[in-house]
Amino acid sequence: MTSTIEPGTGAPVLSVRDLHIRRTADGADLVRGIGFDLSPGGVVGIVGESGSGKTLTCRAALGVLPAGCTVAGGRVHVAGLDLATLGAAELTQLRGATISAVFQDPASYLNPSIPVGAQVAEVVRVKKGLRRRDARRDAAELLAAVRLRSPGLVYGQYPHELSGGMLQRVLIATAIAAEPRVLIADEATTALDVTVQAEILDLLADLRERTGLALVVVSHDLAVVAQLCDEVLVMRAGEVVEQGPAERVLQHPEHEYTRLLVDEHERYGLDRFLAPAEAGA
Ligand SMILES: Nc1ncnc2c1ncn2[C@@H]1O[C@H](COP(=O)(O)OP(=O)(O)O)[C@@H](O)[C@H]1O
Ligand SMILES: [Mg+2]
Repeated sequence: MTSTIEPGTGAPVLSVRDLHIRRTADGADLVRGIGFDLSPGGVVGIVGESGSGKTLTCRAALGVLPAGCTVAGGRVHVAGLDLATLGAAELTQLRGATISAVFQDPASYLNPSIPVGAQVAEVVRVKKGLRRRDARRDAAELLAAVRLRSPGLVYGQYPHELSGGMLQRVLIATAIAAEPRVLIADEATTALDVTVQAEILDLLADLRERTGLALVVVSHDLAVVAQLCDEVLVMRAGEVVEQGPAERVLQHPEHEYTRLLVDEHERYGLDRFLAPAEAGA
């Protein structure tokens, strides 16, 4: 999967238009009017406090809202396909193959009693329709591609033998196994220590550059967003309060809430990520 298109240009691979998500039990509108376009190689960031609707937005983009929540308005297009028009089987096919995701707490997505290599191979086998031997070869390559040290050793290890950062790399390997065009990373580095977090972000940036993978990066950490994203959406209580080029929004926030977030993060060294020398590095 080599992209010949300039990063962030070309027809959107993910397009969210005026999305509304409702909780059916009480009719509460949990997400109201979010929208963005993501082109091949582009990176959009979603920031905002806990409970602001970031994860629900991601799940709507994946076509898997939790039970009790429904799309009450707007549209999600993935690679030109309107999710609302797709059946369950088509959505399952789309997930993994075209749009994929990694979340916080990677261990919960792995079977504790099966070596991780075999689990990656199984995803490859199912999603790419490969024979077992070919799937094993692909899985080994994927573990190397996510820059696990000693991928051959890791292949045969069980989840409990691996660190959080290694587990997240394994999950990223399964998420990119079928060469999706969009990868959603929803707080994917939140639980990791700073060094490991930086390594994983670097890996995502590298995948984007090498393969034209488009990214949705959800984080409550503005430094993460500043480092990686072209565009940023600032969410609060189900709404986007500010949206625009990451540098503009983070350096010259217009909304009071964004200013508050930026102020909170100054002491964590946001400046360092906003330095021009860092851009595109
Ligand atoms: N499965 C669910 N059932 C009912 N309400 C939910 C469910 N998931 C999320 N919510 C509510 O929707 C709002 C947004 O949640 P979420 O998207 O998870 O926020 P964030 O990811 O920004 O922390 C919250 O108020 C949350 O309580
Ligand atoms: Mg969340």
